[in-house]
Amino acid sequence: MPRIAFSRRQALLAGAGAATAGVLGLPAVEAAKAPEIRLSAKPGRAQLVGPSYPQTEVWCYGGRVPGPELRLRQGARLAVAFENQLPESSTVHWHGLRVPNAMDGVAGLTQAPVAPGERFSYAFDLPDAGTFWYHPHQRSVEQIGRGLYGPLVVEETEPIRVDREEVWILDDWRMTEEAAIVEDFDNFHDKSHAGRIGNTVTLNGIIPESFPVRAGERIRLRLINAANARFFALKFTGHQPRLIALDGQPCAPHALPDGRIVLGPAMRADLVIDMTGRPGERFDLIDDHYQRFAYRLLEIAYEADAPLRENPLDAPIALPANPLPAPDLGSAVRQRVVLGGGAMGGMASATFRGQTKGLREIAREGKVWALNGVVADRLRMEPLLTVQRGRSAVIELANETAFDHPMHLHGHSFRVLSRDGRPVPHGIWQDTVLVAPREKVEIALVADNPGDWLFHCHILEHMAAGMMGLIRVA
Ligand code: C2O
Ligand code: CU
Repeated sequence: MPRIAFSRRQALLAGAGAATAGVLGLPAVEAAKAPEIRLSAKPGRAQLVGPSYPQTEVWCYGGRVPGPELRLRQGARLAVAFENQLPESSTVHWHGLRVPNAMDGVAGLTQAPVAPGERFSYAFDLPDAGTFWYHPHQRSVEQIGRGLYGPLVVEETEPIRVDREEVWILDDWRMTEEAAIVEDFDNFHDKSHAGRIGNTVTLNGIIPESFPVRAGERIRLRLINAANARFFALKFTGHQPRLIALDGQPCAPHALPDGRIVLGPAMRADLVIDMTGRPGERFDLIDDHYQRFAYRLLEIAYEADAPLRENPLDAPIALPANPLPAPDLGSAVRQRVVLGGGAMGGMASATFRGQTKGLREIAREGKVWALNGVVADRLRMEPLLTVQRGRSAVIELANETAFDHPMHLHGHSFRVLSRDGRPVPHGIWQDTVLVAPREKVEIALVADNPGDWLFHCHILEHMAAGMMGLIRVA
């Protein structure tokens, strides 16, 4: 069967050695015994927009976009020898993984940037199963924007039963007519508004056309939004996908309202989809996040073959929980974090480099966003919150800006407790939570991972323009 995703081939090339048990029925190789995976970052070329266009000059891992899929088993150890062959320094951040602070890959905070020609060894255990991804944490707007990212899948020891699994990593590029990346990475309009939204959406590094499926099959779809700023709202017309995990963390399986899943930058979703159409049928997969610009991402194309089964598979789809400690709300430290600034946000002044400054003056330095009135300019700063190790924390995020912000915390996953005071159902844990304009979102976590952890908006232009802070676990 032709496939859109290149994931399985990538897994082999990556040398991760872990097979997709439960899908292929092969035993997984213990990563602890597997050799170090070599991962290089370097300039390359990719045929992103189809054969009638020239190749695009990109920066990428392992010579391709997306980078190789790293696939391991829960409880295994991931060891990566990173080699920087870029013309500038870089790092690798393991988005969503609960790693020790020194392995978190934040240049200037958890490690020194890896200079061109240098190497850095990452090694850590994988406590959680789920869908994750990796990307640089150094000049992220440009480095991720040029194509540096890849999927990281941690398989459950007992995966749920599906016929097929797919990893779809979505990206958005700002390109010229000649398929070259527009190099306006410092664009202040992007920084002060919705970020660098491009004009070309790719799925696993190509513009997708159709997704061939067989009637009756059950597919587990792992979605990853690797775009700098674009949101996706994917609507599977004619189908009833069920959400089983967000940001890698299992939730109570539930149908999506309208069959639609919204993914802000850095967010992931695991869906189970029963292919309930008939042989030969076709359905649109629509992205209508920006309603005036709704488009068909691809066509779900049923093959002519007889259905694999007449009724949907009768097997459980709930994933086993990951070993996340439950926050104790009664004894939790509480902290409010106000998201401020940006265009049309009404923030007149803020603290910048230790002094109160007018927003205009701050904007001249290319910054425009603040957390609790502080515009971040460097990574070493006073934490927004210090929590004793092992204690619970409840953080109220209050968005006083005119834009949505996907707020990401490093080193931990958190429970999403409420939105505007209304409890969030289905037991949702995330590492990147969307906060809408004027919305208040309460999250809770056990601060069990010591270190200074970055907490920032994952619209990369917002992070670059000051929307970040630290949470210290002491
Ligand atoms: Cu996806 Cu601070 O990172
Ligand atoms: Cu933001």
